Amino acid sequence: MRLPGLIDPHVHLRDPGHTYKEDWYSGTASALAGGYTCVLAMPNTSPPITDSSSLENILEAAHGKVHCDYGIHVAGTSNNTSTVPALSDKASGLKLYLNDTFGDLRLDGLHIVNSHMSAWPDNRPVLCHAETYMAAAVLMLAVLHRRSVHICHVSRKEEIDLIRAAREQGLAVTCEVTPHHLFMTKSDIDSIKEGRYMVSPRLNTISDQNALWQAIADGVVDCIATDHAPHTLLEKDSRNSPPGFPGLETSLALMLGAVREGRLSMNRLIELMCTNPARIFGLASQQETWIEVDMHEKWEVKASQFYSRCGWSPFEGWQLQGRLKKVVLRNKTVYDRGEVLQHIRSGKNVNQ
Ligand code: DOR
Ligand code: ZN
Ligand code: ZN
Repeated sequence: MRLPGLIDPHVHLRDPGHTYKEDWYSGTASALAGGYTCVLAMPNTSPPITDSSSLENILEAAHGKVHCDYGIHVAGTSNNTSTVPALSDKASGLKLYLNDTFGDLRLDGLHIVNSHMSAWPDNRPVLCHAETYMAAAVLMLAVLHRRSVHICHVSRKEEIDLIRAAREQGLAVTCEVTPHHLFMTKSDIDSIKEGRYMVSPRLNTISDQNALWQAIADGVVDCIATDHAPHTLLEKDSRNSPPGFPGLETSLALMLGAVREGRLSMNRLIELMCTNPARIFGLASQQETWIEVDMHEKWEVKASQFYSRCGWSPFEGWQLQGRLKKVVLRNKTVYDRGEVLQHIRSGKNVNQ
């Protein structure tokens, strides 16, 4: 079966800074091997992407190395409220961190979030890591500034209920959910080794998970985003396990499984994994680009066979059905029968 190339609006590719976890080669090969022909990368690299020189450097680092199309989100900080808007055409969005997570980008105070929401052009996306009360805070600011806002990796019933209510009032709020929150709850923590289950937002309850599936059925969720956040096993198994799961190579098969079980239609999957991310992030449609999947093939998750450099998966050993066979990007076959064609690196920056 043929589907359009998938778009992931939320990945962490670690280049520059932590290329032993992932880099532009391995991260975009991992994307292709998951059926993604476009990924939008988060700015919590080292250094973080917060100004024109760090943005130029990352674009330079990516150029020519990249297997799929890509965009870069820039981060809001305490110091760049007046300067970062100048980057709005070169970036795929402005990311605001309202909670602690990997990296040091959490914003120190509502007044800074307020300034960013006011200064960033209202026709360009703002994405927020905003859990629990913080989700309410960003919705309020979006109302005050009469602008849209995109809430990342919604994982709790209380958050999706709020987003549903805001949309009923006509607010331009969009949101994404991750496959790990759709397929795992905190009751899975025991079966994943201690430390490996650390992810931000954390795994939540079955009632939270049911609310996310209901919101997918009701059209309240706009996108599936992997929040692909690779860290090595050594790091995950250490005492200070950094939060994050790799997800690019498992999300399509997980979602195809949900289609087979009747949890959503194939059309809805295409909306969530392609058309809605393209619309929200203003991406031109990818011409002559498609993927081919075998809906029947069964396979077992073995992270040792993945392209991602991090070498593990929270879904290790899961039996999945539905497998990617081929990826064609602008009329060129770039993935075929389990192999990323490594010599072809025709990925383009979507904001150039
Ligand atoms: O689990 C997470 N990992 N959540 C985030 O917000 C950041 C990410 C990372 O960069 O590792
Ligand atoms: Zn986040
Ligand atoms: Zn993230």
